[in-house]
Amino acid sequence: MTQLLRVYGWLGALRLARDWVATRMTMPQARLVRRPLYLRGRRWMQIGPGLTTGPGLRLDAFPISPENGPVLRIGRDVQINDYVHIGAVHSVIIGDRVLIASKVFISDHNHGKTKGPGAHDHPNIPPISRQLVHAEVVIEDDVWIGEFVSVLPGVRIGKGSIVGTMSVVTRDVPAYTMVAGSPARILKRFNFAMSAWEKV
Ligand SMILES: CC(C)(COP(=O)(O)OP(=O)(O)OC[C@H]1O[C@@H](n2cnc3c(N)ncnc32)[C@H](O)[C@@H]1OP(=O)(O)O)[C@@H](O)C(=O)NCCC(=O)NCCS
Repeated sequence: MTQLLRVYGWLGALRLARDWVATRMTMPQARLVRRPLYLRGRRWMQIGPGLTTGPGLRLDAFPISPENGPVLRIGRDVQINDYVHIGAVHSVIIGDRVLIASKVFISDHNHGKTKGPGAHDHPNIPPISRQLVHAEVVIEDDVWIGEFVSVLPGVRIGKGSIVGTMSVVTRDVPAYTMVAGSPARILKRFNFAMSAWEKV
């Protein structure tokens, strides 16, 4: 108790107690889900055991075909830090033991078609009324995503990879790879023989 107060202070400890009780009552499989929490479309989410989150997490799951199953899946023992927004209308899959730092944005959709064959959405259509263009996002097991990262529709981040802070991930990231930048580019790969990250 003394240690808890030393780390969090009285107010922090009270907040922690409130969040712990709320977690036990509303999401008992989770470890600790801090408030405020914004869940929209809870029945289209599948959340694994052991979830820990910071305050201000916003999860949106609005399937284009509501008869389909969950469109947002979160694996086991995932940690998501403060003020993260994840939006899914088709499929966002987050693997086991993924660590997502604060202020990260992950989405599987855009408002309006802006590339490829066929009619594109006219800019005079209000953005909210444009067709939703979607592509699956997959973040495999043991990925670490740094602060202020955006992961855009259609991206797969391979197992054990690292995304540097402030990155915008527009393309797939192979497993055991470190990327950073906007757009994110490969910086390093893990060399299993040497047990070391090596610059590319
Ligand atoms: C990606 C990261 C892990 C790399 O760490 P590292 O292995 O120590 O990287 P290095 O210092 O060897 O940098 C390698 C190169 O990548 C560049 N780089 C590192 N991080 C970068 C980033 N976020 N964006 C752009 N370039 C980056 C470095 O400038 C360096 O470039 P150079 O080879 O031209 O000199 C680290 O920079 C990072 O972004 N960490 C995230 C921190 C965070 O969000 N913490 C939240 C805690 S949950």
